[in-house]
Amino acid sequence: MPAITATAPGKIILLGEHAVVYRRPAIAVPVTQIRARAILTANPRGKPGDLHIQAPNIGLESDLDELAPDQPLAAAVRLVLRELGIKQSPACTLRITSTIPVASGLGSGAAVSVALIRALSAFLGKPLEDERVSSLTFEIEKLHHGTPSGIDNTVITYAKPVFYIKDETIETLEMPRPFTILIGDTGIPSPTAAAVGDVRRAWQADPMTYESMFEAIGQIARSGRAAIEAGRIDSLGLLMDENQELLKNINVSSPELDALVEAARRAGAAGAKLSGGGRGGNMIALVSTQNASRVTQALQEVGAKRVIQTEVRKP
Ligand code: PMV
Repeated sequence: MPAITATAPGKIILLGEHAVVYRRPAIAVPVTQIRARAILTANPRGKPGDLHIQAPNIGLESDLDELAPDQPLAAAVRLVLRELGIKQSPACTLRITSTIPVASGLGSGAAVSVALIRALSAFLGKPLEDERVSSLTFEIEKLHHGTPSGIDNTVITYAKPVFYIKDETIETLEMPRPFTILIGDTGIPSPTAAAVGDVRRAWQADPMTYESMFEAIGQIARSGRAAIEAGRIDSLGLLMDENQELLKNINVSSPELDALVEAARRAGAAGAKLSGGGRGGNMIALVSTQNASRVTQALQEVGAKRVIQTEVRKP
Protein backbone atom coordinates (compact mmCIF):
# COMPACT_ATOMS: atom_id res chain seq x y z
CA MET A 1 0.00 0.00 0.00
CA PRO A 2 1.57 3.37 -0.96
CA ALA A 3 2.07 6.05 1.71
CA ILE A 4 -0.77 8.56 1.93
CA THR A 5 -0.05 12.22 2.69
CA ALA A 6 -2.44 15.08 3.50
CA THR A 7 -1.65 18.64 4.52
CA ALA A 8 -3.61 21.58 5.94
CA PRO A 9 -2.72 25.28 6.20
CA GLY A 10 -2.46 27.59 9.20
CA LYS A 11 -4.88 30.48 9.61
CA ILE A 12 -5.25 33.99 10.94
CA ILE A 13 -8.34 35.77 12.16
CA LEU A 14 -8.61 39.13 10.38
CA LEU A 15 -11.50 40.42 12.48
CA GLY A 16 -13.84 39.14 15.18
CA GLU A 17 -11.99 36.71 17.49
CA HIS A 18 -13.55 36.07 20.90
CA ALA A 19 -16.86 37.72 19.92
CA VAL A 20 -17.25 34.81 17.46
CA VAL A 21 -17.57 32.44 20.44
CA TYR A 22 -20.73 34.46 21.29
CA ARG A 23 -22.27 34.05 17.82
CA ARG A 24 -20.98 37.28 16.30
CA PRO A 25 -19.43 37.09 12.82
CA ALA A 26 -15.68 36.84 12.24
CA ILE A 27 -13.40 36.76 9.19
CA ALA A 28 -10.58 34.22 8.96
CA VAL A 29 -8.17 33.43 6.12
CA PRO A 30 -5.81 30.50 5.49
CA VAL A 31 -2.03 30.98 5.66
CA THR A 32 -0.61 28.55 3.15
CA GLN A 33 3.11 29.07 3.86
CA ILE A 34 2.77 27.21 7.14
CA ARG A 35 1.26 23.72 7.12
CA ALA A 36 0.61 20.57 9.10
CA ARG A 37 1.29 17.28 7.36
CA ALA A 38 0.13 13.73 8.11
CA ILE A 39 1.73 10.72 6.43
CA LEU A 40 0.42 7.18 6.76
CA THR A 41 2.61 4.23 5.86
CA ALA A 42 1.63 0.57 6.01
CA ASN A 43 3.71 -1.74 8.25
CA PRO A 44 3.56 -5.05 6.36
CA ARG A 45 5.19 -6.87 9.31
CA GLY A 46 2.88 -5.44 11.99
CA LYS A 47 -0.28 -7.04 13.42
CA PRO A 48 -3.69 -5.72 12.34
CA GLY A 49 -4.72 -2.97 14.75
CA ASP A 50 -1.13 -1.84 15.45
CA LEU A 51 -1.07 1.90 14.86
CA HIS A 52 2.15 3.69 15.68
CA ILE A 53 2.18 7.50 16.03
CA GLN A 54 5.22 9.75 15.54
CA ALA A 55 4.93 13.50 16.19
CA PRO A 56 8.53 14.76 16.45
CA ASN A 57 7.50 18.42 16.94
CA ILE A 58 5.94 17.56 20.29
CA GLY A 59 8.43 14.78 21.14
CA LEU A 60 5.81 12.06 20.87
CA GLU A 61 6.48 8.51 19.65
CA SER A 62 3.99 5.92 20.86
CA ASP A 63 1.59 3.15 19.95
CA LEU A 64 -2.03 4.31 19.81
CA ASP A 65 -2.97 1.85 22.60
CA GLU A 66 -0.60 3.57 25.02
CA LEU A 67 -2.11 7.04 24.61
CA ALA A 68 -4.80 8.46 26.89
CA PRO A 69 -8.28 8.89 25.37
CA ASP A 70 -8.07 12.69 25.57
CA GLN A 71 -4.65 12.91 23.90
CA PRO A 72 -5.68 14.90 20.79
CA LEU A 73 -3.87 12.75 18.17
CA ALA A 74 -5.16 9.52 19.70
CA ALA A 75 -8.64 10.98 20.01
CA ALA A 76 -8.60 12.02 16.33
CA VAL A 77 -7.50 8.54 15.21
CA ARG A 78 -10.20 6.85 17.30
CA LEU A 79 -12.83 9.29 16.04
CA VAL A 80 -11.98 8.48 12.42
CA LEU A 81 -12.08 4.71 13.06
CA ARG A 82 -15.47 5.07 14.75
CA GLU A 83 -16.82 7.37 12.01
CA LEU A 84 -15.84 4.81 9.35
CA GLY A 85 -17.07 1.81 11.37
CA ILE A 86 -13.58 0.24 11.33
CA LYS A 87 -12.68 -1.81 14.43
CA GLN A 88 -9.04 -2.46 13.50
CA SER A 89 -6.84 -0.47 11.16
CA PRO A 90 -4.23 -2.30 9.11
CA ALA A 91 -0.81 -2.10 10.84
CA CYS A 92 0.56 1.34 10.02
CA THR A 93 2.61 4.35 11.15
CA LEU A 94 1.09 7.82 11.32
CA ARG A 95 3.69 10.59 11.19
CA ILE A 96 2.64 14.17 11.99
CA THR A 97 4.86 17.15 11.28
CA SER A 98 4.01 20.83 11.24
CA THR A 99 5.59 24.18 10.51
CA ILE A 100 2.77 26.00 12.34
CA PRO A 101 3.91 27.25 15.76
CA VAL A 102 1.81 25.79 18.59
CA ALA A 103 -0.31 27.84 21.00
CA SER A 104 0.16 31.03 19.02
CA GLY A 105 -3.22 31.69 17.39
CA LEU A 106 -2.30 30.23 14.00
CA GLY A 107 -4.55 27.18 14.15
CA SER A 108 -1.91 24.49 14.62
CA GLY A 109 -4.21 22.12 16.52
CA ALA A 110 -6.97 22.28 13.92
CA ALA A 111 -4.52 21.94 11.02
CA VAL A 112 -2.98 18.79 12.53
CA SER A 113 -6.46 17.30 13.01
CA VAL A 114 -7.57 18.14 9.45
CA ALA A 115 -4.41 16.62 7.93
CA LEU A 116 -4.65 13.53 10.16
CA ILE A 117 -8.35 12.91 9.47
CA ARG A 118 -7.88 13.32 5.70
CA ALA A 119 -4.80 11.09 5.52
CA LEU A 120 -6.19 8.33 7.76
CA SER A 121 -9.61 8.17 6.09
CA ALA A 122 -7.93 8.03 2.66
CA PHE A 123 -5.50 5.35 3.88
CA LEU A 124 -8.48 3.30 5.07
CA GLY A 125 -10.03 3.62 1.61
CA LYS A 126 -12.91 5.87 2.71
CA PRO A 127 -11.83 9.52 2.24
CA LEU A 128 -14.14 11.79 4.24
CA GLU A 129 -15.98 14.78 2.75
CA ASP A 130 -14.94 18.28 3.88
CA GLU A 131 -18.07 18.70 5.96
CA ARG A 132 -17.22 15.58 8.01
CA VAL A 133 -13.52 16.50 8.23
CA SER A 134 -14.51 19.89 9.66
CA SER A 135 -16.98 18.51 12.18
CA LEU A 136 -14.62 15.77 13.44
CA THR A 137 -11.91 18.44 13.78
CA PHE A 138 -14.36 20.51 15.81
CA GLU A 139 -14.72 17.57 18.23
CA ILE A 140 -10.94 17.52 18.72
CA GLU A 141 -10.84 21.32 19.06
CA LYS A 142 -13.04 20.93 22.13
CA LEU A 143 -10.18 19.00 23.78
CA HIS A 144 -7.77 21.87 23.01
CA HIS A 145 -10.09 24.82 23.64
CA GLY A 146 -13.07 23.86 25.77
CA THR A 147 -15.66 26.00 23.98
CA PRO A 148 -14.37 26.70 20.46
CA SER A 149 -16.49 28.72 18.05
CA GLY A 150 -15.70 26.39 15.13
CA ILE A 151 -13.93 29.06 13.06
CA ASP A 152 -10.51 27.32 13.05
CA ASN A 153 -11.75 23.93 11.78
CA THR A 154 -13.88 25.71 9.15
CA VAL A 155 -11.25 27.99 7.61
CA ILE A 156 -8.58 25.29 7.75
CA THR A 157 -10.73 22.53 6.23
CA TYR A 158 -12.01 24.67 3.34
CA ALA A 159 -8.72 26.60 2.97
CA LYS A 160 -10.59 29.72 1.78
CA PRO A 161 -11.27 33.15 3.31
CA VAL A 162 -14.50 32.75 5.33
CA PHE A 163 -17.12 34.97 6.92
CA TYR A 164 -18.12 32.78 9.82
CA ILE A 165 -21.01 32.81 12.27
CA LYS A 166 -21.26 29.85 14.68
CA ASP A 167 -23.92 27.33 13.61
CA GLU A 168 -24.73 29.17 10.38
CA THR A 169 -23.97 28.28 6.77
CA ILE A 170 -20.33 28.93 5.88
CA GLU A 171 -19.85 31.87 3.53
CA THR A 172 -16.67 32.40 1.54
CA LEU A 173 -15.51 35.93 0.76
CA GLU A 174 -15.27 37.62 -2.62
CA MET A 175 -11.78 39.09 -3.04
CA PRO A 176 -11.64 41.56 -5.89
CA ARG A 177 -8.31 42.95 -4.56
CA PRO A 178 -5.75 40.71 -2.88
CA PHE A 179 -3.87 42.28 0.02
CA THR A 180 -0.72 41.66 2.04
CA ILE A 181 -0.63 40.79 5.73
CA LEU A 182 2.42 40.47 7.97
CA ILE A 183 2.15 38.08 10.89
CA GLY A 184 4.42 39.01 13.81
CA ASP A 185 5.10 36.51 16.58
CA THR A 186 5.59 37.70 20.17
CA GLY A 187 7.23 34.32 20.85
CA ILE A 188 5.04 33.98 23.94
CA PRO A 189 2.97 30.78 23.87
CA SER A 190 -0.61 31.45 24.88
CA PRO A 191 -3.13 28.62 25.09
CA THR A 192 -6.42 29.85 23.65
CA ALA A 193 -8.46 28.01 26.30
CA ALA A 194 -7.11 30.27 29.07
CA ALA A 195 -7.98 33.53 27.28
CA VAL A 196 -11.39 32.20 26.20
CA GLY A 197 -12.08 31.07 29.81
CA ASP A 198 -11.12 34.47 31.24
CA VAL A 199 -13.36 36.27 28.74
CA ARG A 200 -16.23 33.94 29.68
CA ARG A 201 -15.82 34.71 33.39
CA ALA A 202 -15.71 38.47 32.69
CA TRP A 203 -18.82 38.17 30.49
CA GLN A 204 -20.64 36.26 33.24
CA ALA A 205 -19.69 38.97 35.76
CA ASP A 206 -20.79 41.86 33.52
CA PRO A 207 -22.93 40.56 30.65
CA MET A 208 -24.25 43.96 29.52
CA THR A 209 -20.83 45.53 28.96
CA TYR A 210 -19.41 42.41 27.33
CA GLU A 211 -22.42 41.87 25.06
CA SER A 212 -22.11 45.44 23.80
CA MET A 213 -18.38 44.98 23.11
CA PHE A 214 -19.04 41.68 21.31
CA GLU A 215 -21.75 43.41 19.29
CA ALA A 216 -19.34 46.20 18.31
CA ILE A 217 -16.74 43.60 17.25
CA GLY A 218 -19.38 41.76 15.20
CA GLN A 219 -20.27 45.03 13.43
CA ILE A 220 -16.60 45.55 12.63
CA ALA A 221 -16.47 42.09 11.04
CA ARG A 222 -19.55 42.91 8.93
CA SER A 223 -18.02 46.22 7.82
CA GLY A 224 -14.75 44.38 7.12
CA ARG A 225 -16.53 41.98 4.83
CA ALA A 226 -18.12 44.87 2.93
CA ALA A 227 -14.72 46.62 2.66
CA ILE A 228 -12.93 43.49 1.40
CA GLU A 229 -15.66 42.63 -1.08
CA ALA A 230 -15.65 46.20 -2.43
CA GLY A 231 -11.83 46.22 -2.66
CA ARG A 232 -11.61 49.09 -0.10
CA ILE A 233 -8.49 47.80 1.59
CA ASP A 234 -7.63 51.01 3.49
CA SER A 235 -10.98 50.82 5.28
CA LEU A 236 -10.02 47.30 6.34
CA GLY A 237 -6.95 48.76 8.08
CA LEU A 238 -9.05 51.22 10.10
CA LEU A 239 -11.38 48.40 11.10
CA MET A 240 -8.42 46.31 12.30
CA ASP A 241 -7.34 49.22 14.51
CA GLU A 242 -10.86 49.59 15.95
CA ASN A 243 -11.02 45.85 16.57
CA GLN A 244 -7.70 46.00 18.46
CA GLU A 245 -9.09 48.69 20.81
CA LEU A 246 -12.03 46.44 21.66
CA LEU A 247 -9.74 43.43 22.14
CA LYS A 248 -7.75 45.52 24.62
CA ASN A 249 -11.00 46.41 26.39
CA ILE A 250 -11.91 42.75 26.78
CA ASN A 251 -8.44 42.27 28.22
CA VAL A 252 -6.89 39.81 25.76
CA SER A 253 -4.03 41.97 24.48
CA SER A 254 -0.65 42.17 26.24
CA PRO A 255 2.26 44.63 26.44
CA GLU A 256 4.21 42.55 23.90
CA LEU A 257 1.31 42.44 21.43
CA ASP A 258 0.69 46.17 21.92
CA ALA A 259 4.36 46.94 21.23
CA LEU A 260 4.28 45.04 17.93
CA VAL A 261 0.97 46.64 16.93
CA GLU A 262 2.28 50.16 17.65
CA ALA A 263 5.55 49.52 15.82
CA ALA A 264 3.72 48.25 12.74
CA ARG A 265 1.48 51.33 12.65
CA ARG A 266 4.41 53.71 13.14
CA ALA A 267 6.23 52.04 10.23
CA GLY A 268 3.27 52.67 7.95
CA ALA A 269 0.93 49.66 8.28
CA ALA A 270 -2.65 50.57 7.32
CA GLY A 271 -3.90 48.75 10.45
CA ALA A 272 -2.77 46.21 13.02
CA LYS A 273 -4.23 43.99 15.73
CA LEU A 274 -3.66 40.78 17.64
CA SER A 275 -4.94 37.63 15.92
CA GLY A 276 -6.44 34.61 17.66
CA GLY A 277 -6.77 34.05 21.38
CA GLY A 278 -4.37 36.89 22.32
CA ARG A 279 -2.27 37.43 25.49
CA GLY A 280 0.73 36.23 23.47
CA GLY A 281 0.96 34.50 20.13
CA ASN A 282 0.72 36.55 16.95
CA MET A 283 -0.39 39.92 15.72
CA ILE A 284 -1.18 40.91 12.13
CA ALA A 285 -0.52 44.09 10.16
CA LEU A 286 -2.05 45.18 6.87
CA VAL A 287 0.70 46.50 4.59
CA SER A 288 1.28 47.47 0.97
CA THR A 289 3.84 45.57 -1.09
CA GLN A 290 5.96 48.78 -0.96
CA ASN A 291 6.14 49.10 2.83
CA ALA A 292 6.14 45.38 3.75
CA SER A 293 9.88 45.21 4.32
CA ARG A 294 9.96 48.44 6.38
CA VAL A 295 7.18 47.16 8.64
CA THR A 296 8.87 43.75 8.90
CA GLN A 297 12.06 45.43 10.06
CA ALA A 298 10.16 47.57 12.58
CA LEU A 299 8.50 44.45 14.02
CA GLN A 300 11.85 42.70 14.35
CA GLU A 301 13.38 45.75 16.05
CA VAL A 302 10.78 45.67 18.82
CA GLY A 303 11.23 41.95 19.41
CA ALA A 304 9.12 39.94 16.94
CA LYS A 305 10.52 36.41 17.02
CA ARG A 306 9.42 35.74 13.44
CA VAL A 307 7.54 37.63 10.75
CA ILE A 308 5.59 35.85 8.00
CA GLN A 309 4.35 37.72 4.94
CA THR A 310 1.20 36.33 3.32
CA GLU A 311 -0.99 37.38 0.37
CA VAL A 312 -4.71 37.12 1.07
CA ARG A 313 -6.57 36.16 -2.10
CA LYS A 314 -9.31 33.84 -3.20
CA PRO A 315 -7.71 30.48 -4.06
O1 PMV B 1 -7.00 29.25 18.01
P1 PMV B 1 -6.83 30.73 18.15
O2 PMV B 1 -5.92 31.16 19.22
O3 PMV B 1 -6.65 31.39 16.83
O4 PMV B 1 -8.24 31.32 18.70
C1 PMV B 1 -9.41 31.22 18.00
C2 PMV B 1 -10.21 32.43 18.18
C3 PMV B 1 -11.10 32.57 19.39
O5 PMV B 1 -12.20 33.36 18.95
C4 PMV B 1 -10.37 33.29 20.50
C5 PMV B 1 -11.61 31.25 19.95
C6 PMV B 1 -12.59 30.54 19.03
O6 PMV B 1 -12.83 29.35 19.27
O7 PMV B 1 -13.17 31.16 18.12
